[in-house]
Amino acid sequence: MRLSLILTLIAAAAAVANAQEPARPILTPKPAPAPAIHGPKVYGARPGRPFLYRIPCTGVRPLRFSAAGLPPSLRLDPATGILSGETPRQAGEYLVTLRASNARGQASRAFKLVVGDTLALTPPMGWNDWYSFYHRITDKLVRAAADALVSSGMADFGYQYVNIDDCWMVKPDPATGEPPRTPQGNIRPNANFPDMSALTSYIHGKGLKAGIYTSPGPLTCARYEGSYQHEAADARQFSAWGFDFLKYDWCSYDKIARDKSLEEAQKPYRQMGDLVRNLDRDVVFNLCQYGRNDVWKWGGDAGGQCWRTTGDLGLEKDAELPGFYSIGFKNAEHFEFAGPGRWNDPDYILIGYVGDARRNDAPSQLTKLTASEQYSYMSMWALMASPLIYSGDMAHLDPFTLNVLCNAEVIDLDQDPLGKQARIVRKTPDEFILARQLEDGSLAVGIFNLAKQPRKIEASWADLQVEGAQQVRDLWRQKQLGAASGRYAETIAPHGVALLRLSPARK
Ligand code: GLA
Repeated sequence: MRLSLILTLIAAAAAVANAQEPARPILTPKPAPAPAIHGPKVYGARPGRPFLYRIPCTGVRPLRFSAAGLPPSLRLDPATGILSGETPRQAGEYLVTLRASNARGQASRAFKLVVGDTLALTPPMGWNDWYSFYHRITDKLVRAAADALVSSGMADFGYQYVNIDDCWMVKPDPATGEPPRTPQGNIRPNANFPDMSALTSYIHGKGLKAGIYTSPGPLTCARYEGSYQHEAADARQFSAWGFDFLKYDWCSYDKIARDKSLEEAQKPYRQMGDLVRNLDRDVVFNLCQYGRNDVWKWGGDAGGQCWRTTGDLGLEKDAELPGFYSIGFKNAEHFEFAGPGRWNDPDYILIGYVGDARRNDAPSQLTKLTASEQYSYMSMWALMASPLIYSGDMAHLDPFTLNVLCNAEVIDLDQDPLGKQARIVRKTPDEFILARQLEDGSLAVGIFNLAKQPRKIEASWADLQVEGAQQVRDLWRQKQLGAASGRYAETIAPHGVALLRLSPARK
C-alpha cells in the first residue's frame, strides 16, 4: 500500500474515533495566574494535638504565604503554605487571615480555627484508593497518589486526605501461615506496606493527611485481618503510625453481632468512636455500615464525623439512570441530620479512570458517564455537603475530570461553613431540585433533568422559599446570569444540571 493511502486511512479512522468520542465541554474557567485561596473557611481541631494544614491556593508559582492572627503554637512555611505545630491548648475561636502573593497579585481569605471537640466542621475532601487499586494497593501507589494530589492541582482546591482502603493488612491464610499480628498482638501491614510511619511522614511532608481502614469484625470485607478484640491496640497503632482518618467498615461483624438490634448495630462504632476521640491526634472517624439502622440519627453521637448512608456506589446497578443517582436520591432524604462535624456520606466520586468493583483485577477505564451526568454527580454531592473523596486513578487525571473535581465555586458550596445539606424541593421521575441555604444568606439550587431529552424546568420562588428579585449565578461557569423575579427556568440537557446561587438583588 502506498504511504499516502495509509496516511489517509489512518486520518479517516481517527475522524471516526473522534466522532464517536462524546463531547465533554469544560465549563470550569481556568484558575487565574494571580493567587486565589480556596478550601474551608472554618476548621475544627482538638486542643493540644498535632496540627497540619496546607493552604489550598491557585496561581502561578512561586507563591509567598503569610498569616495574620496565627496562634503562637502554629507556624507557617511561607514558601509552601503549610501550617504546622500544635493546636492551641485553649479552646475557642481563632480568627486567622491567610494571605498569598505572587508576581501577578495577592489574595487573602478568612480562616476560623475552632479549637474544641468537633472535627470536620466542613466535609472531608481527598482521595481513597479503593476503586482504582483494590487488593493491588501498595505504599508506592499511595505515595504516587499523594504526589498527584499536589501536581494535578487538586490539593490547591482543598483535597487533602490520602486514604488507604482495605487490603493493606495480612490476609490470614493457612497456606502461607503468615501471622497477621505481632506476638504482642499488634496489627501487621502486608509486604506491600514496608513502613507505615515512613508513608504517613511522606504524606505529611506535603502538608496532606493520611487515612486508614479497618473493620470491627475479625476480617475485613476483602477477608484481610480486622480489628475484632484488638480495637484499642489498633486505634493506638494507627495513631502511632500517624494516621488522621479512619474508615471503620462493618464487613464480618455480622458474625459477631448477637442480633439485629440497634444496640448491637451501634456497639462497635461507639467503642471505636470513644477510642478514636481519646487518641493524641485528630483522627476523623468515618462509619461504614451501608446506612443500616438509620445511622444518620446516631453516627455523630457514636463519635463519627461522617457515615455512609448507602451500599457501595461502585456496585449500584445502573437502572433508568446511572447508579450515582439512586445513591444520591437516598442520601438526599437525610438532609436534616447533617451539620458541621456530622456528614452524610454517599460514597466516593467515581469519574475519570475507575476500576470495576465487580472485577477487581480489571484495569481502570474512562467512566461511561456523560459530561452532563458528571456535572450532575458533582453538583449533587456539593449540594448535599458530602465528603468529596475522589476514588479514580490519580495517574490518569485528564483535563475534563479535573474540571469537574476542581471548580472553586462548586467546592465552596460543598464546604459552606453553615453546613446545611440541601433539602429536596422537587422529586419526580423527570425532575429533581435541591436547595441549600448558605452562610452569606444566598441559596444554592440544583435543577437536575432526569429525562433522556432536553427539558425546560422551572423553579418558582415559592418552591425555593425566596422572595423578591434575585441575582442568579451559574456556579459551573462562574458567571452572573442576571436578575430574576418570581421564578427561574432553563432548558437543561438530558441528565444535566443547572447549578445556581441566588442572592437577593440590591435595590
Ligand atoms: C466495603 C465498603 C467499600 C470498600 C470495601 C473494601 O464494600 O463499603 O467502600 O471499603 O468494603 O473491601
